[in-house]
Amino acid sequence: MGTCEETKYRVYLLCMVTCFLILLRRSTVVQNQPTPEIKSFITRHNLIASQSNRSYNGVQNKSQPAICSRQDNVVFIKTHKTGGSTVQSIMYRYGYIRDLSFVIRRTNENNGHIRFMEVTKDSPTKMFLPLLDTGTCSFRGYNMSAIHVVHDWEIFESFMNPGTKYITILRDPVFQLRSAFMFFRLYIGTIGKTAEDKLLQYTKRNLWKLSNYGKNSQSKVLGLKTEYFEDEAKIKLFINQLDIELDLVLIHEYFDESVVLLARELCWNLEDVVYTIENNRSNHKPNLDSELLDNIRKFNHADVLLYDHFNQTFWKRIEQQGPMFWRDLEEFRKLQNKTMYKCFNSSTIPEDYVSGHNISDYCDRYAGGNFLFKNVFTKQNRPC
Ligand SMILES: *[C@@H]1O[C@H](CO)[C@@H](O)[C@H](O)[C@H]1NC(C)=O
Ligand SMILES: *[C@@H]1O[C@H](CO)[C@@H](O)[C@H](O)[C@H]1NC(C)=O
Ligand SMILES: *[C@@H]1O[C@H](CO)[C@@H](O)[C@H](O)[C@H]1NC(C)=O
Ligand SMILES: *[C@@H]1O[C@H](CO)[C@@H](O)[C@H](O)[C@H]1NC(C)=O
Ligand SMILES: *[C@@H]1O[C@H](CO)[C@@H](O)[C@H](O)[C@H]1NC(C)=O
Ligand SMILES: *[C@@H]1O[C@H](CO)[C@@H](O)[C@H](O)[C@H]1NC(C)=O
Ligand SMILES: *[C@@H]1O[C@H](CO)[C@@H](O)[C@H](O)[C@H]1NC(C)=O
Ligand SMILES: *[C@@H]1O[C@H](CO)[C@@H](O)[C@H](O)[C@H]1NC(C)=O
Repeated sequence: MGTCEETKYRVYLLCMVTCFLILLRRSTVVQNQPTPEIKSFITRHNLIASQSNRSYNGVQNKSQPAICSRQDNVVFIKTHKTGGSTVQSIMYRYGYIRDLSFVIRRTNENNGHIRFMEVTKDSPTKMFLPLLDTGTCSFRGYNMSAIHVVHDWEIFESFMNPGTKYITILRDPVFQLRSAFMFFRLYIGTIGKTAEDKLLQYTKRNLWKLSNYGKNSQSKVLGLKTEYFEDEAKIKLFINQLDIELDLVLIHEYFDESVVLLARELCWNLEDVVYTIENNRSNHKPNLDSELLDNIRKFNHADVLLYDHFNQTFWKRIEQQGPMFWRDLEEFRKLQNKTMYKCFNSSTIPEDYVSGHNISDYCDRYAGGNFLFKNVFTKQNRPC
């Protein structure tokens, strides 16, 4: 009798616990479930890690044969205050869902940046996270890099996969400096009543020598040495060299055109390059009158030559694409807007959006930035 009651009681208890666990699990899972609407949007556009080659009009189309094959080995050299974080999050989203291995500084779990530290052929074992787990620890044959690091093609070729594409983004050096001036607090040490006075003074004095982010910062990240900043011949050589080494240079001022060109260059689908704007800061920026403009252009001479050169090649490249490019661009803009509305009910991401809590994993990936990076870091991080 006693054992029968005991068994009943046990079964009852077990039921309660199981029910409780099931309910608990449901409630945590439900929070991250996409709505049916988002689900069908994702399916319709084949938005999860499409492995298909690009075929027609940038959009996968099974009834059209592929015209190119996807390129999944990419170095994106991240310049400063240029929209680089937005491009970076495209790379992290793309690579994360396809299990690609990134160049990431092991000891920098905040963002993986190497910045201005020297990179040599020995750096991978000393400094990088290993490739994603394949059983053994490997430090050769990375698929992607999207961090702040000084460009050195030869060194990168020694640990990237063969056939890697090299890409960067440039911004009009006048506006780039203005943004860096505020963000990196380059005004510290300048004397003046207004931000405009301070910026003007900055272009006339030697304070820039105290920072890597002050003068010709885009050229510097792309490998121009400080001692050549005023050397016209060296700058020209540097630009010619980059022309050979870089497969594509995006231009901040033409961002949508840039990412469509990126999709075409890498044979990615347009869905792959949908983006959310990262770090658009509206802190008070100095107004630029013609004197200030002139002075910055002189001060940032190497960057001006660099930018003008690659702005020209950018438009030549677009011309070579033919009229289909403009159809892709139109289609991309629709998709960009549609995706933002599906995920955020707005054309841009809301400021209070917290990744990992809202809507769905799919939409979280568009929140990008640190959330995406942390996921990439965690997946690739292991003792070796
Ligand atoms: C796919 O290709 C077929 C055949 O060329 C074409 O009729 C159709 O409109 C294309 N679909 C899309 C979505 O572009
Ligand atoms: C993409 O194209 C490459 C080269 O033509 C081919 O080897 C590969 O199988 C294609 N991939 C898919 C998913 O169609
Ligand atoms: C990514 O890198 C790994 C390791 O080098 C390589 O085996 C794999 O083919 C690469 N993936 C692609 C899509 O190229
Ligand atoms: C950045 O924000 C400013 C105002 O905060 C806005 O006017 C501007 O259009 C934004 N830029 C982009 C590229 O969204
Ligand atoms: C970039 O080049 C185009 C075409 O030559 C030109 O119209 C445009 O003004 C340039 N943009 C900037 C920001 O210099
Ligand atoms: C963006 O999408 C929203 C929601 O579908 C629509 O109301 C709006 O007109 C679109 N805007 C543009 C510029 O296409
Ligand atoms: C989307 O935003 C609009 C305007 O801000 C608001 O009226 C509407 O209720 C929102 N829709 C959803 C589903 O949140
Ligand atoms: C996202 O989640 C945060 C924290 O739960 C909340 O404060 C915010 O309102 C949510 N935003 C959207 C767009 O749902």
